[in-house]
Amino acid sequence: MAAPVQWHAEALWEAVSPLLPGFTVEILPEIDSTNTELMRRARAGQLEPVLLVAERQTAGRGRLGRDWQSESHNQNPNLTFSLGLPLALTDWSGLSLAVGLAVVQSLHADLRLKWPNDVWLGDRKLGGILIETASVGDARYAVIGIGINITPRDAAGLRTPPAALCELWPEATAPLALARVALPLVQALQAFVREGFAPLRTAFHARDLLYGQEVVCSDGLTGMARGVDASGALLVHTDQGLKKINSAEVSVRPMAAPAAPPANPV
Ligand code: BTN
Repeated sequence: MAAPVQWHAEALWEAVSPLLPGFTVEILPEIDSTNTELMRRARAGQLEPVLLVAERQTAGRGRLGRDWQSESHNQNPNLTFSLGLPLALTDWSGLSLAVGLAVVQSLHADLRLKWPNDVWLGDRKLGGILIETASVGDARYAVIGIGINITPRDAAGLRTPPAALCELWPEATAPLALARVALPLVQALQAFVREGFAPLRTAFHARDLLYGQEVVCSDGLTGMARGVDASGALLVHTDQGLKKINSAEVSVRPMAAPAAPPANPV
């Protein structure tokens, strides 16, 4: 039988709870989705800060209504967790970029962000972030779900080929990755509440996978990605000038390289 995974929940709690009074850490062997569970709890009035980790999700969810498959084919599970907490924000723009930045900065120098907040290694996706919110009375509760591939996963059915953290960090495990991410994530959220996205713009550009690339948006707009503005909107230089892309519905992908000219043109 596989040895149980050691999550070091107490060390996580000790690191984070001074910043978040009432914080708890919960590790579950299996659940449909950590985001779904925290959204259910928030709608039922449970608004305390919590870190919910699942060793296995049976109905993991991604952005834009997609599935998130994180099944591991060995004893080293992938990392799937959600952080739920009340967030008093007047301006939410750029939050998802700030979260992505905290994730890549805490995990590895070679990781990049594909706007708005996909975690990529080279030309493959290594992780994703799904942020949802619930309004309960005057309060707004944020559920920040993060999935990171720790070991290689099956590419079948995926839109983009997957990468895994152990390619960069051979000893990586889900608990070690979580230990790197949890505190910086909470610190980044608290800094975001104070200062918003603007101070993070330069740091985002240093990790921006799309910067200087020809991109095509899902609405057909094409142009060269020029980083983000102070609110986190993607800037695309098009034939009609500089356009700002805000919508979470827009997915952006690098344009396919033009076909090489024939070797012997006639
Ligand atoms: C994406 O890239 O589309 C976002 C993926 C987010 C996956 C994480 S795994 C933990 C949390 N629970 C979910 O159901 N989804 C998020």
